[in-house]
Amino acid sequence: MSDAVVDSLRQVVADTYALIGQLHICHWNVRGTSFFSLHTAFEEQYTELFAAVDEIAERIRAKGALAPGGLSNLAKMAGIEEIAENAPAVDMVKHLVKANEKLLADLKTARDHAGEANDSETEDMMIARMQVHEKTVWMLKSYLE
Ligand SMILES: [Fe+2]
Repeated sequence: MSDAVVDSLRQVVADTYALIGQLHICHWNVRGTSFFSLHTAFEEQYTELFAAVDEIAERIRAKGALAPGGLSNLAKMAGIEEIAENAPAVDMVKHLVKANEKLLADLKTARDHAGEANDSETEDMMIARMQVHEKTVWMLKSYLE
């Protein structure tokens, strides 16, 4: 089964998973004077995303379609760039701003498709996810100021 809502939700799942992977690289490898705050912040973010991606994948199932999975499969679908292991902390934060903004664009697409399909439950879920990522972008950008 393929429709615009399901397709856009599958993209959100792939990119959310990719962002979790990027947050892990940053959590493990961040170095410098802001180590403790960033190490902790990245963990909070991937922990929240790990719960969220499960809800989104199960929303796809509730709509009668199949959820994407598997690292190589998700990597092929995802549109999130990858950061180098030795990147400086500031570059990690800039990278995560871009990744969150890409995810926000995906979420907006899914929200709009859900609205057009009168699927208020999916629309509501996407709005809630957008609120989380907008807050994250604000926090990451505040770090860079
Ligand atoms: Fe850890």
